[in-house]
Amino acid sequence: MAEVIIIGGGIAGLSAALEIAASGVKALIFSKVHPLRSHSVAAQGGINAALRNHPDGKNDSWEAHMIDTIKGGDFLNDQEAVALMCREGAKRVMELEKMGCPFSRTPEGRIAQRPFGGGVFPRAAYAADRTGHAMLNTLYEQCMRAREEGRIDFYDEWHVLSVIASGSKCLGIAARNMRDSEIKPFPAGAVIIATGGAGRIYSHSTNALINTGMGIALGYFAGVSLKDMEFVQFHPTTLYGTNILISEGARGEGGWLLNKDGKRFLSDYPDSASSMEMAPRDIVARNIIKEIRRGGGVEDEYVYLDLRHLGEEKIQERLPGIRELSIKFAGIDPAKELIPVQPGQHYTMGGIDVNIKCETGLNGLFAAGEASCVSVHGANRLGGNSLLEALVFGAVAGKSASEYAEGAEKYPEAFLKESEAGLKEKTSFLMNSRTGKSQWDIWEEMRKTMMETAGIFRNRDGLTKGLNIISRLIGEYDGISLSDRGGVMNMELYWAEELRGSLRVAEAVLIGALAREDFPGRDDERFLKHSVIEYNSGSPELSLKDVDVSYCSPAERRY
Ligand code: FUM
Repeated sequence: MAEVIIIGGGIAGLSAALEIAASGVKALIFSKVHPLRSHSVAAQGGINAALRNHPDGKNDSWEAHMIDTIKGGDFLNDQEAVALMCREGAKRVMELEKMGCPFSRTPEGRIAQRPFGGGVFPRAAYAADRTGHAMLNTLYEQCMRAREEGRIDFYDEWHVLSVIASGSKCLGIAARNMRDSEIKPFPAGAVIIATGGAGRIYSHSTNALINTGMGIALGYFAGVSLKDMEFVQFHPTTLYGTNILISEGARGEGGWLLNKDGKRFLSDYPDSASSMEMAPRDIVARNIIKEIRRGGGVEDEYVYLDLRHLGEEKIQERLPGIRELSIKFAGIDPAKELIPVQPGQHYTMGGIDVNIKCETGLNGLFAAGEASCVSVHGANRLGGNSLLEALVFGAVAGKSASEYAEGAEKYPEAFLKESEAGLKEKTSFLMNSRTGKSQWDIWEEMRKTMMETAGIFRNRDGLTKGLNIISRLIGEYDGISLSDRGGVMNMELYWAEELRGSLRVAEAVLIGALAREDFPGRDDERFLKHSVIEYNSGSPELSLKDVDVSYCSPAERRY
């Protein structure tokens, strides 16, 4: 039986696995954590699809969803890819429902939908404010059934260290069993990278700690390009102090943003004056920062999210997770008190460059979900489109990879031994070096640097400074020393292996951002382009390529 390896057990990975299993090919899922601990589980507010179940959404259509998505991304999305995602959306959400996904319901028993920023209709289907949790568990149950039937296998707590390629072909992967540190090569007919984003290259992020970007780097190190890495999303409302996500669903249900004087300050900014809390998240996040800089923030750090007027019953029914998180992590009950919020890194819109079939530039290597950039989000993703992208393009990658694997030669394990030997050498270097810098200092400096120089507002001086610091840290990485030399669940070794990828992903973000710098007005002549970065023996090379504008012509965004 042909086999496809999937790296990552989140929604994109599991969606790919089910598609592969259905096609008669076997899916092997490698995950550094138990799949139900993948970051998809933390997605809160909803998944977009033109289901037309909300009374205000009767005229919704996949075309309207496509236009909102393209406009939200400032026309830097590839429009054919957006069209595919929006056309498939309703079908995939209905499929999930048939699998038993516990979506919240309208009084008539249909899937409930709430408004999200930048959408002209309420189209985010949700399971209270735990949508990712509901979807991931539903997909996992189906994968467990396929496992019983021998169509899917799980390699939990295996840390993938490299994608092995020869010439223009992907041959498999090398991975380390975290339980005993055994490193092994795994040949496969095809490989899919579905490892999620790189939020943790920043100090203030909603992402799980596992989102280091190493999965993106796996493709990069194997020779495939990264696209639009400078497009990093900052969510407007993260809990002050921890940066835990406070869902856009809270504003979709009617929550208000207030400054220190209790004013709904978004009305003071022309680009959010009419849409207010339902403006797209890039606009809301920017205006929160502007308001704090103007002096309207509390302690110069945050603003307030007010849910009190929604009432305890509605909060408990629609936003129970937000309430629980606020109580547990800030000691604040949103039914009675204001929630302190500030923008924080939330989503990696760039990633491994793939086409509409999720193919990378390396034959047999595919990528899907947040680790990839099929370019459905452009420069700014709309809330509710990440779960949809993972679900739809996970399945697309599964289909493409299984078709490829059926015709591919699978190399014997012995063929991949050379790569295994190289990795063992690297690991033993990390384990034996006793004199170098601590990796924790490098992590901290990288995250702080990214936050300060590649945040919401950027300029050439800051980005150049950031790039110089990251280049220095890349040099220092080669000499780090570890104190834990054990072979069983050695998390210090795990973090050191991840850091190698994180540093290179951070570098790519800065290089991409320097090519685009902030300009106040539109300049489509120069900037209606994708940035593409290749890792040529350790020295990144930047080029530009055209954006697909086959459906809508670029125009100034107005809300
Ligand atoms: O705010 C949220 O619930 C996040 C949704 C998203 O990023 O799609």
